[in-house]
Amino acid sequence: MKAADIREKFLKFFESKGHTIVRSSSLVPGNDPTLLFVNSGMVQFKDVFLGTESRPYSRATTSQRSVRAGGKHNDLENVGYTARHHTFFEMLGNFSFGDYFKRDAIHYCWELLTKVYGLPADKLTVTVYQEDDEAFAIWENEIGVPKERIIRIGDNKGARYASDNFWTMGDTGPCGPCSEVFYDHGPEVWGGPPGSPEEDGDRFIEIWNLVFMQFNRDVQGNMTKLPKQSVDTGMGLERLAAVLQHVHSNYEIELFQTLIKAAARETATADLTNNSLKVIADH
Ligand code: ALA
Repeated sequence: MKAADIREKFLKFFESKGHTIVRSSSLVPGNDPTLLFVNSGMVQFKDVFLGTESRPYSRATTSQRSVRAGGKHNDLENVGYTARHHTFFEMLGNFSFGDYFKRDAIHYCWELLTKVYGLPADKLTVTVYQEDDEAFAIWENEIGVPKERIIRIGDNKGARYASDNFWTMGDTGPCGPCSEVFYDHGPEVWGGPPGSPEEDGDRFIEIWNLVFMQFNRDVQGNMTKLPKQSVDTGMGLERLAAVLQHVHSNYEIELFQTLIKAAARETATADLTNNSLKVIADH
């Protein structure tokens, strides 16, 4: 399935669930001096989560162009070392502004992945924030994920709420515990499940992050409750495309291959059948 079809299916699925399709915002945030570049789909909705801006809809879906090359979410150092980082990417997202919360977010996610995109359920592993018994119970009892494949992740980054499963936009702003979905690319790829010593490998790839927005963090690090519980999700278009195109690296998906081959053609680079990254790196 081409990336354009994956994007279309995502937006249409959420439109069928009452979401308004909203255009990707500019890469440079219009109203936010705390970020140089938009780093995720929720940035254009920051003030809606904070309750200081209202929109004519309470559910939205986007495919947001994003850059992670600095700041709190920085992928720059990983480029060239993993199969899944490239700083500029598109993030598919669905958002609830005080409308649905954990239950529907999890059910929509599973329905889209397994029914619309047809991913085998047994290739999926999920994580929840250590204290989030509610999300754990929804995955286990309502979705039917075996509990061995629901992994609790705590504050693993040295401070309270500093966790792979507690998402913050930056040093300040809306934040909350999150639940992530990982796809297992198979034992031929090095890596281990989230929370294991080999988690940084490319075998288990995080494809979708469901954030249960509940707090606003201020400059002192104080957390205050948001006026309404909300949902912010993000799925990397290129990572999902790799899964659906049965390749193990984002750079092998048709979007990048078209660009890499065009660059190789224009620079008269010869062997396109070999590892394209190597071709680019060598020239
Ligand atoms: N804002 C969340 C993220 O970027 C969905 O992972």
